[in-house]
Amino acid sequence: MSMIDDDGISNPSNNPTFEEIATARLSRRQFLAGSAGVGTLAATGGIGTLLSAMPAEAGGRGHSLLGFAGIDVTSADAVTIPPGYTAKVLIAWGDPVSAGPVFKQDASNTAAEQAQQWGMHNDGLVYFPIRGSRRGLIVQNHEYTDDGLLFTDGVANWTADKTAKSLAAHGVGIIEVKRARDDDHRRGDNPRDWEVVRPSKYARRITGMTPCSIGGPAAGDDRLKTSADPTGTEVLGTLNNCAMGYTPWGTYLACEENFNGYFRKTGAQTSMEKRYGITAAGFGYLWHTTDTRFNVDLEPHEPNRFGWVTEIDPFDPDSKPVKRTALGRMKHEGAWVQVARDGRVVVYMGDDERNEYIYRFVSKHRWRKALRRGKSPLDEGTLYVAKFHETYGEWIALTPDHPALSNWTLADILINTRSAADAVGATMMDRPEWIDTMPRSLTAIATLTNNSRRGSNPPSSNLPDGSTSAGSARPPLDDANPRANNVYGHIITWSYRQDWTENTFSWDFFALAGDPVNVAHGSTILGDKYGSPDGIYVAPSSRIWIQTDVSTPTINAGAYAGFGNNQMLCADPYSKETRRFLVGPSQCEVTGVFVTPNERTMFVGIQHPGERPDDLPGDPDNPKQFSAWPDGAAGGRPRSSLVVITKDDGGEIGS
Ligand code: FEO
Ligand code: CA
Ligand code: CA
Repeated sequence: MSMIDDDGISNPSNNPTFEEIATARLSRRQFLAGSAGVGTLAATGGIGTLLSAMPAEAGGRGHSLLGFAGIDVTSADAVTIPPGYTAKVLIAWGDPVSAGPVFKQDASNTAAEQAQQWGMHNDGLVYFPIRGSRRGLIVQNHEYTDDGLLFTDGVANWTADKTAKSLAAHGVGIIEVKRARDDDHRRGDNPRDWEVVRPSKYARRITGMTPCSIGGPAAGDDRLKTSADPTGTEVLGTLNNCAMGYTPWGTYLACEENFNGYFRKTGAQTSMEKRYGITAAGFGYLWHTTDTRFNVDLEPHEPNRFGWVTEIDPFDPDSKPVKRTALGRMKHEGAWVQVARDGRVVVYMGDDERNEYIYRFVSKHRWRKALRRGKSPLDEGTLYVAKFHETYGEWIALTPDHPALSNWTLADILINTRSAADAVGATMMDRPEWIDTMPRSLTAIATLTNNSRRGSNPPSSNLPDGSTSAGSARPPLDDANPRANNVYGHIITWSYRQDWTENTFSWDFFALAGDPVNVAHGSTILGDKYGSPDGIYVAPSSRIWIQTDVSTPTINAGAYAGFGNNQMLCADPYSKETRRFLVGPSQCEVTGVFVTPNERTMFVGIQHPGERPDDLPGDPDNPKQFSAWPDGAAGGRPRSSLVVITKDDGGEIGS
């Protein structure tokens, strides 16, 4: 296993930093509210002192980290980036991950071939260095499929083979990548230098059929047992992996989000099935017609085996993925790991649905000690949920010690985490998406993508008995979610004084999204407009990258008229200035971003170009109706792809 020990993989530092102080200093909330940040600020002597004290490497031009010219919105069916940068598709859906079958443009590859090819709809990703910034592994999720485009004849004439191919196009992909001329690090980087290594001993696909272990406190629980697995400890596959995380011991965390959509339940819903959205209609997938494990009437426990964080060791191709139940069961967006002062790990997680919660896990043991004892640091610890107050927040431990959970076992809490969080009165958020942390301070940043039900009537909240149907409440405005019908979303930050393990934090808004030029939007963006922030990633330099997921039916329409296609922006954490860096092709979502340790190469995910605006499966008779990216006239299908971006002068991306 390769260790990743620098360049922002973890943050063992506890030194107060310029970034932390400056972020707090620029916070209107903390000026007004007299919260914990003010004492720090009073000691620092004003904004001029702070800005002049910033480290030189944070400077860029003047004091800004942003050195590129922001680009305009566009509806072009292309990846559009600023002058001086180059983008290239590194791998697209259907391309072989190693020496393997090539993509057939009519989508006629078999299930067995798909299982050796890049999956559909790539999402969160991590670059794991093998040789620094020149050779490494990329691990990327394949969140979901458009079964209308996955087959030559779409969803017609559904068969068990079609279920098998759809499952094979889900999961996670691992590829080895390198710069072709990686012996010369003095010349400027160029994306044409980057290539997928074929064959590679590391390359593999993990699919919806790959055997995975179930680990942690809920493993073996009766509610995880099925006819195929009477032990409740092994499940086939990991599904709907959205965002991700990575650990200081070099593993990847794939996070199961909208797992409910694959299942069908025609009988009466249990309370937990309501809470997680297990319904008769599902999301339209037809797997249940050929595979009984997706028929909940026949196999009632199978959905309980999804909604977890799955740990994968990319450096051991024979290793088995493990679902880590101590991190709770929800519609996991991602799992972002920090190292506390004493060596324990702290994991931040969002549950992405309207009115759901933000979570934190703190391991019981120091990670090195746990590994030495042959245990996973992620199998034992305490799960917390966030409650936000006007100027501060608190982490509420979800354990049977909580008075509201005195009748719950730990397994009850971990399997039905949403209801446990309801019981303790956590703060319903406007769809928690990605979370990342500043590389040199104790500050986290999180996107809340939107919530059309916030502030609508009659008001209602997730009931404390955990019986509310997923996404159905109509919460009133609150301090952390201050806008009714929040169609544009917002970004928040929270900070600690000494350590990631503290149970209280100060928090603030980074931005309320929308068009800052349009007063009616109430946007506080300092710079280019955007809405529905989803991906957020802080590079080693502290540049903040923001990716948008405006849903396909509303791209450049309605409240989003004039916003163009989905996009990626870069923000300076000190000034909050925000510039548009990339606009994706038609009908895509821009999701997944990671840089090499030297920040001179960026990998970006383009997901579901050409998706139909009516939310139906793609039309196999007219697959390029809404996008022909990336293959253009030569191609038969739009394809989700991993894109590599470099700066033509070899500099840092965004500089
Ligand atoms: Fe799959 Fe929450 O985005
Ligand atoms: Ca997402
Ligand atoms: Ca999303």
